[in-house]
Amino acid sequence: MYPQIFSAAKDVDQAFLAILGFSVFILVVVTLCMLWFLYRYNHKRHPDAAQIHGNVWAEIIWTGLPTLIVLGLFWTGWTSFKAMRTIPDGAMIVKAEGRMWSWKFTYENGRTSDELYIPIDTPIKLELSARDVIHSFYVPAMRVKWDMVPGIDTDAWIQSDTLGQYDIFCAEYCGLKHADMITLLHVLPDDEFQAWLEKKPDDGGKPRGLVLMEETGCFDCHAMDGSDDIAPHLNDIAGAERLIIIPGGEKKTVTVDEEYLRKAILQPGAELVDGWYDDMPSYEGEFSEEDLNAIIDYMLGKAESSAPHPGMEVA
Ligand code: CUA
Repeated sequence: MYPQIFSAAKDVDQAFLAILGFSVFILVVVTLCMLWFLYRYNHKRHPDAAQIHGNVWAEIIWTGLPTLIVLGLFWTGWTSFKAMRTIPDGAMIVKAEGRMWSWKFTYENGRTSDELYIPIDTPIKLELSARDVIHSFYVPAMRVKWDMVPGIDTDAWIQSDTLGQYDIFCAEYCGLKHADMITLLHVLPDDEFQAWLEKKPDDGGKPRGLVLMEETGCFDCHAMDGSDDIAPHLNDIAGAERLIIIPGGEKKTVTVDEEYLRKAILQPGAELVDGWYDDMPSYEGEFSEEDLNAIIDYMLGKAESSAPHPGMEVA
């Protein structure tokens, strides 16, 4: 069982236990009654069934009691749901994007990360979105699970009273690598969080294009070691020939160059590479012209790098 680190979610466990407790209680009572009735009123002891017509008090009790139980269970669920849906004013905002198959968190100062960092005892409003298909943001230790639906902005809030690292899962089946869509929540002391937030991420001397591609999650699908895993590989592709299908079904061979890559990133659905299904989302509006050029330069092998390609062994 996961620890419980979110005060607004403490009632979730209580609601769960209350519902479980009632269910077990009713199961036991009904089973005991059934066994007793089997014994007491079987055919040998009671050859003639009693004919009973109407009993107002029995009807009042068997209608009223279940109604009260159901209302009580509803109330335990409703109070904890309400606490988790009431986002405190002034909460720190973090944008959380789910995509096939990784996470991107964007903080108020523009810093991004693929693992979530938050300060302790601070309410955090998560603005949830999905790039491609439905994902679900799930932090078991917070008892928080909220769907991320393309085209619909949803939100959730979290707060931790305990330092440490906790799991974040995607809780909605979203394709081949759904099971890999796991990341970490880091709860830090306030000063450590501020220091992390202000720190410029270390890009290890990587070209800008590569850093952008890692941030964007390109390598969740595209490999750089020549293997066509889920999508076409991206190493040594400058000048490569690709067979594409134009909508309408016509096939033609094109050469991978700047124009091809620009189209593949911005309007990937316009032309399909033969043999690959149309799963690449559009990144229209995602990059500045400068950043897009940096990515294309990197893919065409024009960017200088002191760092190895992703997927390559470091000697
Ligand atoms: Cu994203 Cu499952």
